[in-house]
Amino acid sequence: MNIEIEFKDIKKIYGEKVVMEHFSLQVRKGEFVTIIGSSGCGKTTALKMVNGLIRPDAGDILIHGENIRDKDQTRLRRGIGYAIQGSVLFPHMTVEQNISYVPSLLNGRDRARTKAAVSKWMKIVGLDEELKERYPAELSGGQQQRVGIARALAASPEILLMDEPFGAVDEITRGQLQEELLRIYRETGITVLFVTHDIGEALKLGTKVLVLDQGEIQQYAPPAELLSRPATPFVEQLVERERRTCHLPEERLGDCEFSGAAGR
Ligand SMILES: Nc1ncnc2c1ncn2[C@@H]1O[C@H](COP(=O)(O)OP(=O)(O)OP(=O)(O)O)[C@@H](O)[C@H]1O
Ligand SMILES: [Mg+2]
Repeated sequence: MNIEIEFKDIKKIYGEKVVMEHFSLQVRKGEFVTIIGSSGCGKTTALKMVNGLIRPDAGDILIHGENIRDKDQTRLRRGIGYAIQGSVLFPHMTVEQNISYVPSLLNGRDRARTKAAVSKWMKIVGLDEELKERYPAELSGGQQQRVGIARALAASPEILLMDEPFGAVDEITRGQLQEELLRIYRETGITVLFVTHDIGEALKLGTKVLVLDQGEIQQYAPPAELLSRPATPFVEQLVERERRTCHLPEERLGDCEFSGAAGR
């Protein structure tokens, strides 16, 4: 089994409050994990531990089997795409400068390479090239979100962390962004951790869904399994309505085992 990310017996405390305890999780390479749970249950905390923005009080995070404690934190972060909801863009930088931020660090003086990367990613996320010189304040919410995703992807990371990235956009834009993200995911074979509070979105995008409550794992399973065999009353309640209304792609209803990006 090719494990990309591993949480090993993690504990996290804020003041007196234990947010996570004995939290262990393995994420296989190429998996698209959606994370859902009640507000304050520790989703953002878990995500930020992967790129070292939050340190566990006990336990270890391994990436490709290597403890991230031992890694250069700046380099670690550059290798992991991170897209969050809201004001993720540098307001004083143009679209082009925002997207090229990490690639230009990596490419050094090779400006042509960076420029090509910006054009490529703008195209992939569905941004018109003519928006390049604009500043974030001159873009719509959906466009800003796309720039944020392009920026997260532009460093060609092997891991992409997304924290409710489509929360602030309308339904139509959201649907488009979901489709684009799935396309990018299929094309790149990237490993994704995606936090959402929308169970429909979690079931639609994930190859696996992680359901958390109070920092504890309620279930970690493919969407079809959540629907057919909810592990706890919490999950049962979460998927109850979806079971009646949700239409999973056929290949995922028939086969509860994760079968890799190619199978989707
Ligand atoms: N810096 C901090 N200091 C103290 N408590 C914190 C801090 N950051 C987070 N917490 C607490 O830890 C818990 C988990 O927070 P976290 O941000 O991971 O939740 P979440 O699952 O992402 O919630 P939401 O769905 O609302 O975004 C919450 O109870 C929160 O109040
Ligand atoms: Mg959060």
